[in-house]
Amino acid sequence: IFMMKRYFSERNIVYDDEQKGLNKQIVIYFSHVVAENTPKGLAAQKFAQLVEEKTNGRVKVEVFPNGSLYSDEEEIDALMRGDVQMIAPSFSKVTELIPEWQVLDLPFIFEDYHDVEKVFTGEAGKQLLAMLEKKGMKGLALWSNGFKQMISNRHLLIEPRDFSGLKFRVMPSEILEKQFRLLGAEPIIVPFNHVYQSLEKHEFDGQENTISNICSKGFYQFQPYLTISNHGYLGYAVIVNQSFWERLPKEIQQKITEAMKETTIWNLKQSKRQNEQDLAKIKQNNKIHIYELTNKEREKWKQKFAPLYEEFEMEFGDKLLRQIQNGGS
Ligand code: LMR
Repeated sequence: IFMMKRYFSERNIVYDDEQKGLNKQIVIYFSHVVAENTPKGLAAQKFAQLVEEKTNGRVKVEVFPNGSLYSDEEEIDALMRGDVQMIAPSFSKVTELIPEWQVLDLPFIFEDYHDVEKVFTGEAGKQLLAMLEKKGMKGLALWSNGFKQMISNRHLLIEPRDFSGLKFRVMPSEILEKQFRLLGAEPIIVPFNHVYQSLEKHEFDGQENTISNICSKGFYQFQPYLTISNHGYLGYAVIVNQSFWERLPKEIQQKITEAMKETTIWNLKQSKRQNEQDLAKIKQNNKIHIYELTNKEREKWKQKFAPLYEEFEMEFGDKLLRQIQNGGS
């Protein structure tokens, strides 16, 4: 892997218009941590194909799925160093750099896919992406995976008290840690690529994730109690290294932007479909217990999580929060 990484960073060269290599191919290494047959995996492939078509092969996007190049703990640093040019970390992972992004991790901030689409493609989405620039990164789009559900190896999680005393895997995000503490549970941060091994070693009792991640990584084999709660949202910031971006010829930036717009529209629809298909797949396994929260039960969860909104407002004010709650415009 070390040799491979060195080879990649040395091979990737962007040629300015003034330089001799005007017609040399530009290679974009796009590293991500999930399987290929997931909303992010498929969007990355679609984007690669569109960029190649739109630039007549001048730009090649090489996609590295499954954390094969960098794990989610390493990918932001790798992007900043310029070892890869493009990544799509989950919102939660961006919160380590930009704490305001925690707004997207608030449980029940999105009611349905329509809400998600409005925020991701509207003014609030633009503002969130603009925050990345202060950190030397260019945000190109927000991609969607889907609503997070709760799974456990203990029992179905229906009432807030069902979480009490259990250990839950979380992504690195303070809001997510607080969310589980409010339920009387203990959060532990585990990088995505270690979740499967940690499950084998029984290092935690439950987690929240999308159906697509639960299905493609086989988590349900260890945690057969699945509650359809749709309480949180898993989305991604699609980011390029800023100095790489600025060195790209203008017409190439334009083609990449076009490809990204098309991919994002496609991803919003495809992600919903994918999670539905994967749920149907999981349902075929008769060892899985599936429970869908009623509206009344969802209300109880919402009440339990109300302090998270108060704390967020105290720390960051209410402007972005209200904007998102009002549909992102
Ligand atoms: C997770 O860590 O559970 C997710 O962020 C993985 C991903 O990128 O979908």
